[in-house]
Amino acid sequence: MTPTRLEITRPDDWHLHLRDGDALASVIAHTAQRFARAIVMPNLKPPVTTVAQAEDYRRRILASLPAGARFRPLMTLYLTENTPVEEIARAKASDSVFAVKYYPAGATTNSDSGVRELSRVHAVLEAMQKHELPLLLHGEVTDPDVDIFDRERVFIERYLLPLQARFPALRMVLEHITTRDAVEFVRGAPANVAATITAHHLLLNRNALFAGGIRPHNYCAPILKRETHRVALLQAATSGDAHFFLGTDSAPHPREAKETACGCAGLYTAHAALELYAEAFEQAGRLDRLEAFASFHGADFYRLPRNRERIALERTPWMVPDLYPLAGSTCTPMRAGESVAWSLVETTTP
Ligand code: DOR
Ligand code: ZN
Repeated sequence: MTPTRLEITRPDDWHLHLRDGDALASVIAHTAQRFARAIVMPNLKPPVTTVAQAEDYRRRILASLPAGARFRPLMTLYLTENTPVEEIARAKASDSVFAVKYYPAGATTNSDSGVRELSRVHAVLEAMQKHELPLLLHGEVTDPDVDIFDRERVFIERYLLPLQARFPALRMVLEHITTRDAVEFVRGAPANVAATITAHHLLLNRNALFAGGIRPHNYCAPILKRETHRVALLQAATSGDAHFFLGTDSAPHPREAKETACGCAGLYTAHAALELYAEAFEQAGRLDRLEAFASFHGADFYRLPRNRERIALERTPWMVPDLYPLAGSTCTPMRAGESVAWSLVETTTP
């Protein structure tokens, strides 16, 4: 029988888009209520490519936190073909930068400065391997000849396997995995390779893009896949395997940027992030494994202490509002106008 209350170690979000300026101020509280720490994506305009820029961005995040919030942003650098090798040593020596993000140029929102030719960043990857700084991969090819639903699988074959062969000790996280192929690759990989899984890829398959008509708010990158892949992701997340951990990829966009002829990719899930994961784990009958996935595996991979605070959820459904404010506009959250089965109760200090 499903328990009606669930208390776990306070979780961390190992993949998050916080944006900047007024948008940052609009969304930060949702994450800070639930998570102790988050790996913050660097795909701002312009991208966060240096330690100095990451530290400035970190200060802006801290300044936007609600009074009394205990939340620690873990910063990342955006890898470009011009990233100097020395920036890696600077990042490692900083106490603010925890990883470097690889976007294939053109793969998603603000990825134009990303990598076009992998060989051009080999020296930087060599330095990352040496300094044990994790590489976070948006694992999709951008080749327009490759079917959009195959882009993750093809990335693994074309780029990830050669990368792993060349840099066997490089610490890598395959971000927001969406396919059985990615699950199998990561499951069979050594402990220096891991993957994050979003709540939306655990709960939705690609039918959600076309339920009764086109649904732009369910459009994200990598795109939702067919049910067999969702089932593989759910099985991986709930298996207890430490290769897999929580990363929401919550990515707010103004409503008008989604509801348009060429809409942006990204689901906003920060408002109910842990609650949505609890639904997925409940669906698999494995609520007992939520804590390790949400609060232990990521911290262990990043070699950071596990959190000591606790957080409680209750099995009380609540209605998600139709919209949240977002920097002078609005954002349509996942489950807008519908219910989420679990509610956040409280956090407690040990
Ligand atoms: O759906 C997505 N939205 N995927 C990404 O990789 C980027 C993100 C964003 O920044 O909006
Ligand atoms: Zn992302």
